[in-house]
Amino acid sequence: MRSQDQAIWEVAKKHLNVRNNDEHTLFSYLLAQKLLENYPEANPDIVLPAILLHDTGWSKIPKDKILHAFGPNNKYPELTRQHELESVAIAEKELPKLGFDNQQIEKIFSLIDGHDTTKNARSLEDSIHKDADKLWRYTPHGNRIIGEWFEIEPNEVLDILENFVLPTFLTDFGQKQAQIFLETAKLNLNLRTFL
Ligand SMILES: [Fe+2]
Ligand SMILES: [Fe+2]
Repeated sequence: MRSQDQAIWEVAKKHLNVRNNDEHTLFSYLLAQKLLENYPEANPDIVLPAILLHDTGWSKIPKDKILHAFGPNNKYPELTRQHELESVAIAEKELPKLGFDNQQIEKIFSLIDGHDTTKNARSLEDSIHKDADKLWRYTPHGNRIIGEWFEIEPNEVLDILENFVLPTFLTDFGQKQAQIFLETAKLNLNLRTFL
């Protein structure tokens, strides 16, 4: 992690101890860095603080409803929206204390606000932020956690990722990386059939 992001992480992780959000965030941060390497024109000082804070608002959502407030059978879309607004509220409280100026804070908010409930590319930074968030699902860690959340088998996880999530990537690099993760996960799952 970049040294300038460590203070944000220390604040964010206190709010990320639900739904495996702390682990998810660390993977998405790493994947955001990889995306940023491929898009040098994007501003890492907006994308990286945003990714650390984007899901902090889940900590304000009733625990018994969290696992029903996202994913393929979302029962509470209003709570999906609320976690975005709660994340913005946490960022609003914390970022000024960490030395961010108003202009940076506004840009960071614009990525956190709508990160799940808007699907289009609102800026290059937004595309990278959204793709880093989604790309985690394709990692071995993401595959496992999604299977646990929705109580579905690994092949069902991969089916969802292939048929419903893959077409939604907003950057070429994100989509290619998702495909590589997906193909390696499928090979891992079906390894025995080839031997
Ligand atoms: Fe989210
Ligand atoms: Fe997320």
